[in-house]
Amino acid sequence: MVGQFMGNAGPPSGGPDWSTIDVNALPVTPPDPIREYFQPMDVGAWALRSVPAAVCTGYWGEVQLAQNLIVLARRQKVWMSTAPMELESQQIGVDFARGHVVVFGLGLGWSTATSALKPEVERVTVVEMDANVLEMHEQIKLFERLPDGAGDKVNIVHADALEWKPDGPVDLLMPDIWVELVSWGRAEEVHDMQANVGADMVYFWGQELELARHAARLNRPLDDAGLAATAAEFDLPLVGLDTPGYAARTRAATREWMKGRWLEGTAIPDDLRSAADDAMLSQS
Ligand SMILES: C[S@@+](CC[C@H](N)C(=O)[O-])C[C@H]1O[C@@H](n2cnc3c(N)ncnc32)[C@H](O)[C@@H]1O
Repeated sequence: MVGQFMGNAGPPSGGPDWSTIDVNALPVTPPDPIREYFQPMDVGAWALRSVPAAVCTGYWGEVQLAQNLIVLARRQKVWMSTAPMELESQQIGVDFARGHVVVFGLGLGWSTATSALKPEVERVTVVEMDANVLEMHEQIKLFERLPDGAGDKVNIVHADALEWKPDGPVDLLMPDIWVELVSWGRAEEVHDMQANVGADMVYFWGQELELARHAARLNRPLDDAGLAATAAEFDLPLVGLDTPGYAARTRAATREWMKGRWLEGTAIPDDLRSAADDAMLSQS
């Protein structure tokens, strides 16, 4: 993510490969309605900024031209933005949102707001640990300004997502507390969260990459069966696996975003191997 805004263009850093790009021919990312609610500000170590235009690679690997992006960074690290990678990687979760939704990690409030805007969602509980992020939202008043009182469904809780427990049933849990798409032990961390929450459905950020690295470690193909077997071992009620083209999209996201973060001992399948994987392997 960072490379797309910090000028480190090239596949290993997260930016697209400029040598192959005709900017005028790129698809333009559809405008996101949530971006209208933000203005640049600084709160503690957090900075909210707008970027007029950027060439971005989406989560599913499509290079696109995105305009009027909002970026939330802490000490030069981008935690969230309205770039296609961030929104595409949360969209499946939002599509499944209904009833009582619990979001772990407020960030820009994008997944919270887009869930609250759905008529089939009754309430959204969002758990955030960082006092400055909460203070930033007190200034933005995103949820108060959503149309048709949708923000009345949102309850913001100041707590650690790894410890918080709900006071009633939860239909969907969407954990997104990480700055990197891939981190060690993510499936186990989500398992601990779900042990506290007991949601009917779970969709966590980077789910596809976590499934991919565990499947590949076991020499399973990244097809429907290989992903389903791996998801079953996570012992989580994951959603999204039955959505159209899920295995093909998972392979595309893996090629684009794994960037060498395979589990130890993995024989990287040739069709999933990227320049970033080769760079990592040549260093080891
Ligand atoms: C990537 S952002 C979330 C983006 C959000 N999904 C959105 O749509 O805007 C991650 C957020 O999780 C918060 N966070 C990190 N660790 C946390 C924890 N243990 N408990 C609660 N929030 C946490 C960070 O402060 C940050 O606001």
